[in-house]
Amino acid sequence: MKTITVSASRTYDIRIGPGLLTTLGEAVRGLGKEEKVFLVSDTQVYPLYGGAAEASLKAAGYSVSSFVFPAGEESKNGETFLKLLNALAQAGLSRSDLLIALGGGVVGDLAGFSAACYLRGIRFVQIPTTLLAAVDSSVGGKTAIDLSAGKNLAGAFYQPSLVLCDLDALDTLPEDIFRDGCAEVIKYGVLYDPELFSQLETSGLDFDREAVIARCVALKRDVVMEDEKDTGSRMKLNLGHTFGHAVEAHSRFTLSHGKSVAIGLAIIARASASMGICSEADAARIVSVLKAFGLPVQTQYTAEALLPYLLSDKKRSGGTVNLILPEAIGRCVVSPTPVSQLQSILQAGL
Ligand code: GLY
Repeated sequence: MKTITVSASRTYDIRIGPGLLTTLGEAVRGLGKEEKVFLVSDTQVYPLYGGAAEASLKAAGYSVSSFVFPAGEESKNGETFLKLLNALAQAGLSRSDLLIALGGGVVGDLAGFSAACYLRGIRFVQIPTTLLAAVDSSVGGKTAIDLSAGKNLAGAFYQPSLVLCDLDALDTLPEDIFRDGCAEVIKYGVLYDPELFSQLETSGLDFDREAVIARCVALKRDVVMEDEKDTGSRMKLNLGHTFGHAVEAHSRFTLSHGKSVAIGLAIIARASASMGICSEADAARIVSVLKAFGLPVQTQYTAEALLPYLLSDKKRSGGTVNLILPEAIGRCVVSPTPVSQLQSILQAGL
């Protein structure tokens, strides 16, 4: 097992290893003297791991209640959020009790935001069950729900008290969902770590999960500790996401987040090369590693069709959008870009 400690507005451990669900109760006991725990999960994950989680918590002497909502991004809305808050109140959770998020990014975001709001904040534990949640959304305290105007428009920076990444859960993921998380893993190599990138080129999908997840989490931990509230260096984690989000939204979310990010990474790599910011050879390496992981690198959508999503990007600031451009494998730059230039940059990367 590997442990990575984050010291942000809260200090907490991220543990990565096999069998962590079966020792959940003991791990939670180590956090404090709460009596009740409230498990939040979805209809895909709860039938697989809910029983083991609850059994471990009960064996450690907790009284456990649970809330299971329909799996999918459509559930990450105000209605589910209010239902969950009411369920917490009905279960009589107090400020000294604990909420546990068991699932992928949607569960973590919704449960984390509910933990941030209920009684003005109760502690919560993240148990990511997808690779994408393990290396990205469960780390660093971004929590949110979607509004009809867009994704993640209401939320809070609210750090968990513990993150348990059980590798056994990742082993049972359908390969397609595992691949989605690989887009974020490749992103860390392009952003910060040429050695990780080369390892992924060699291993393909067959990488050492514990070591690679721990490396990605450590890289993200460093960023979160430097810029918890996303006003500076944390913005780089958005690499591939500006164009990726536009593709994802234009597909009406029928294309997964991971595959959209893969397309966004390929677009920004090609665009960066066309502007002379990175070499053609580095852009080609980024595109080929994505392909080797079975991820898409092209979209049929036109720059014209994608432009409106770029203009409504929530990270837009006045007349500019911060594009994250690869300069080389392992080095990227934040480039405040006038919105008037976005269409031609996107066109160059398609
Ligand atoms: N998912 C990007 C971040 O946590 O900042």
